[in-house]
Amino acid sequence: MTYVVLMGGPGAGKGTQAKILCKKLGLPQIATGDLFRENLRENTELGQLARTYMNGGDLVPDEVTVGMVKERLSRPDCANGALLDGFPRTISQADALETLLAEMDERVHIVPYIHVNPDLLLQRLAGRWTCSACGRVYHVLFNPPKQDGICDLDGSALYQRDDDTAETQKHRIAVYFKQTAPLLDYYKNKGLLVEINGEQSIEQVQKELLQVIKESDRQRTD
Ligand code: AP5
Ligand code: ZN
Repeated sequence: MTYVVLMGGPGAGKGTQAKILCKKLGLPQIATGDLFRENLRENTELGQLARTYMNGGDLVPDEVTVGMVKERLSRPDCANGALLDGFPRTISQADALETLLAEMDERVHIVPYIHVNPDLLLQRLAGRWTCSACGRVYHVLFNPPKQDGICDLDGSALYQRDDDTAETQKHRIAVYFKQTAPLLDYYKNKGLLVEINGEQSIEQVQKELLQVIKESDRQRTD
């Protein structure tokens, strides 16, 4: 039973790491950005509501985001834990998460924070390509697909996200420092934050993330 909150700025590698971690740990990934993008694709009411915020690089209002996470956490696959990627992003979302988990007699167990400096965050976002079918992310320089524009795993086309324009990327990073970075102290004060150097290879970051999550599990079962 582990509830993990994965933190890091836009482009820090949360999605990249979450996909591998969830497979290894057998946990469902709750990525609010992915959930919103699914709703955008299917043109649901939620998607229509989120579109303007996302394309401008602003946060979708808390009540909308919390409602969506509440529904997701209530599904049976989350009964044994989950990995949250991109949520919470404000103090009010973090308080709401605490309440939601308390209703299930649960709590957040660990908050790994993937630290990457802003200049590198921008480079990461600028070169990102995502698989239209499986959501795997690539980078033109740091993590290229074997064949340009094609996913290694399933041969589907890669695309660039609508919110990955130069202007929106800068704005998302600014929004992160203003609205989300205060959460680092919030979780530090609760003794849950563990910083990981995100400027290492994908494999090394993965190894360190697995280590800290397993260590936190071990301490609770001892
Ligand atoms: P979201 O989809 O969550 O975007 P984000 O936080 O900006 O994060 P990213 O997905 O851009 O980056 P990442 O950290 O996952 O990095 P990645 O693994 O792709 O949110 C999008 C929008 O949705 C928000 O702006 C907001 O509007 C809305 N939203 C979502 N959640 C919300 C919430 N809770 N409240 C309100 N609104 C919300 O990696 C980036 C690149 O780097 C890739 O190309 C990758 O290949 C490469 N890379 C990764 N790791 C490494 C490494 N170690 N070395 C070299 N390259 C690497
Ligand atoms: Zn794919």
